[in-house]
Amino acid sequence: MVFATAVFASLLLIASAKPLERRMVMHETRAAAPQGFVHTSAAPAAKELTLRIAMPPTDIAGLESALMTVSDPASDLYGQHLTLDEVNEFVKPTAETLQTVSAWLSENNITPKTITPAGDQLSITIPVSQANELFSAEFSVFTHVESGAESIRTLAYHLPAELIGHVDFIHPTVSFTPPISGQPLFSAIEKTPVAEVAPVSDAVPTSCNTVITPACLQAMYGIPATATKNKNNILAVSGFIDEWANQADLKQFLTAFRTDMNSSTTFTLQTLDGGVNTQTRSSAGVEANLDIQYTIGVATGAPITFISVGDSNSDGISGFLDIITTISKEATGTRPNVLTTSYGFNEPDLSRAVATTLCNSYMALGAMGTSLLFSSGDGGVSGSQSQSCTTFIPTIPSNCPWVTSVGATQNIAETAASFSSGGFGNYFPIPSYQATDVAGYISAIGTTNSGKYNASGRGFPDISFQGVNFEIAWDAQTGTVSGTSCSSPAFASVIALLNDELITAGKSPLGFLNPFLYSTTGRAAFTDITTGTNPGCSTNGFSARAGWDPVTGLGTPNYAKLRTAVGLS
Ligand SMILES: *[C@@H]1O[C@H](CO)[C@@H](O)[C@H](O)[C@H]1NC(C)=O
Ligand SMILES: *[C@@H]1O[C@H](CO)[C@@H](O)[C@H](O)[C@H]1NC(C)=O
Repeated sequence: MVFATAVFASLLLIASAKPLERRMVMHETRAAAPQGFVHTSAAPAAKELTLRIAMPPTDIAGLESALMTVSDPASDLYGQHLTLDEVNEFVKPTAETLQTVSAWLSENNITPKTITPAGDQLSITIPVSQANELFSAEFSVFTHVESGAESIRTLAYHLPAELIGHVDFIHPTVSFTPPISGQPLFSAIEKTPVAEVAPVSDAVPTSCNTVITPACLQAMYGIPATATKNKNNILAVSGFIDEWANQADLKQFLTAFRTDMNSSTTFTLQTLDGGVNTQTRSSAGVEANLDIQYTIGVATGAPITFISVGDSNSDGISGFLDIITTISKEATGTRPNVLTTSYGFNEPDLSRAVATTLCNSYMALGAMGTSLLFSSGDGGVSGSQSQSCTTFIPTIPSNCPWVTSVGATQNIAETAASFSSGGFGNYFPIPSYQATDVAGYISAIGTTNSGKYNASGRGFPDISFQGVNFEIAWDAQTGTVSGTSCSSPAFASVIALLNDELITAGKSPLGFLNPFLYSTTGRAAFTDITTGTNPGCSTNGFSARAGWDPVTGLGTPNYAKLRTAVGLS
């Protein structure tokens, strides 16, 4: 009896002492919230937090090598894209990791939900008080000063020692994103009334110097206006931050600028995280209209899907992860061959760990055959942070080597658009496909900008495309918009048209583009842009020059040459 009591008591002691005995290791921390955010108060103890737990992949080097093999035109396996099951074998966590993480969660009476097909990401919902205890964290309310939007973050969190190596990150914690409403981060969009309509002609109309229409792009780059044939060759457009695509505006745009097309041509809507596509006037910004008009209006006849990612995720970063998960799960044949995204972040907003998992998800989707195009970003290097001119701030996802980053040019005799972001990331090293190009550029500029960029980082953009004064219909008017936001959807359309011809010829779609773009054959299909300077911090960024540069990449496409380069003629 006495003995039994003693045992019971010591068990209790062990149980209650456990959290204290457990060695906690600092996992991620940041010195302060990014510029624009202020600490307001402690987070309410009872407030429920939904946290994402990312576990490391079993064999990311194996996935990278598989991606390069199927994406390198010189490889025997070029175009033999992986299935989701094949990708999952690389991405899934090891059995040991799963077991360690599961044991820790159940010990804390937490039931996780698996949220990715490979099972590498879990979602848990727990009160702030428990999260603070579990991670030795201090979850607090931070206010985004400009918008007043509040988010709950911690400037540091810890993991029990036994989880080190088994958890990549807990999110949202130390990554901050601007609020998920308002204008896209990458936009230099101004609505200005424009009366003139460029005539359709094979020669480049001189009006294209001041206003860009689909006819200008067709004439400049030799883009065909004939309708595509393949119903499954989907070009998808990402929609975030309550930017919606308006059907009536699309019809007005096609009526004005694609008189040769059925003006009722439209897109398919797909939604996730509570996304919608409200048609109410003046309720949305211009980004989605721009993206939809310059995909439907350039990739003639191609099936376009507008993917509206809603706000029922913890923040914008989760939306970026969720859209890739959603697309990955779609069957081959219904999964988009091309995805264009005109939204992004400043690199320091996301922790390295979060950025790495996001970049890995692009690696996985690229291996499955989807071309991922992102605008490189606008501004110096992206608007709000331009005051700090000690270092250039790279953008995400353009810093990821497994996406294709698109910069902007202007004028008929093309030069770099002055707002077009480009440079070198900090989080990911220079990929092999661009190593010679990056080394060549850095050696050519000598000490210019030295100390302001990371000479070991992935260089971006990869290519460029017109991006100034695109004529769009918005809010029942027409006007012009500028930004790399214009360049990415329009270039995505070129890839969709090429894929259509490839599929018709019995070949695979292009998938991850960069090894092809940087190959001798691929780069020959681009017109090198050698003039213009990007914004850097506010002025005096990088300058374009002969060959690849972090302003205009390899240059702008020529459709006829691209056909030859991909083996169509
Ligand atoms: C134009 O497209 C709409 C919507 O797909 C379709 O209903 C209509 O028949 C088409 N018109 C012509 C002339 O092809
Ligand atoms: C520079 O880039 C390399 C390669 O990504 C990285 O290892 C290094 O940490 C970066 N340096 C800084 C200061 O971020």
